[in-house]
Amino acid sequence: MDLKIYKDKQEVAKQFSSYFVDQLKDRATFHVALSGGSTPKIVFDVLADNFAGKVDWSKVHFYWGDERCVPPSDDESNYKMTVEHLFSKIDVPEANIHRILGEKDPVNEALRYANLLEINLDRVDKVPQFDLVILGMGDDGHTASIFPHEIALWDAEDHCVVATHPDSGQKRVSINGKVINTAKEVAFLVTGASKAEKVEAVIEKTEGSDAYPASLVNPSSGNLVWFLDEEAASMLNQNPS
Ligand code: 6PG
Repeated sequence: MDLKIYKDKQEVAKQFSSYFVDQLKDRATFHVALSGGSTPKIVFDVLADNFAGKVDWSKVHFYWGDERCVPPSDDESNYKMTVEHLFSKIDVPEANIHRILGEKDPVNEALRYANLLEINLDRVDKVPQFDLVILGMGDDGHTASIFPHEIALWDAEDHCVVATHPDSGQKRVSINGKVINTAKEVAFLVTGASKAEKVEAVIEKTEGSDAYPASLVNPSSGNLVWFLDEEAASMLNQNPS
């Protein structure tokens, strides 16, 4: 596991953008699963601002690790957020954007998306393998849309599952733990003081941390890297501040 701690969100976004572009450089095609929520917004803005014209985006295929079951025009949509902060600023072919169809029936869409991944990606022991999975982590230790109250979804047979947000009841489509842990590279993007307690629990594997889905991220052969700001890392041993 590789821990990268930077002073603030802006620096995390800058460093992650360089890392992301580095990951692409020798690849003919690159399949990446994006995370949603608010953290990626600044990362996508910085990626677009600094690298829009410096990357051959036609070799990048964009997927999502999870999506809210809402129309693509809904402010809750991870796809909509990504269009606003990234796709509207880079020259990426429409055909390279493989959104989860949030407007569809969740169960059918989870099956369709799992099928799409199985067709588009290489497979390792029948599990679709991303070149990179980008993950966020909720204050409750969820990741993608696998929440603590339904942590059993992590080990679901289906590569995409239908999850339910514990507070809002909102339905989500999410990739499962097998897909995440089969990735060649997994990068957590976690910032802010509200994440510090769970970051410490998950990284230092403290008592009870196995209740948090984020603690189950452990790529079988791939690399795991954490991009943290000092606030999110403030309770780690390595970071006495
Ligand atoms: C989502 C995300 C989710 C997110 C965490 C952290 O659809 O909401 O995929 O897993 O990464 O909830 O969200 P923030 O970055 O907004 O704190």
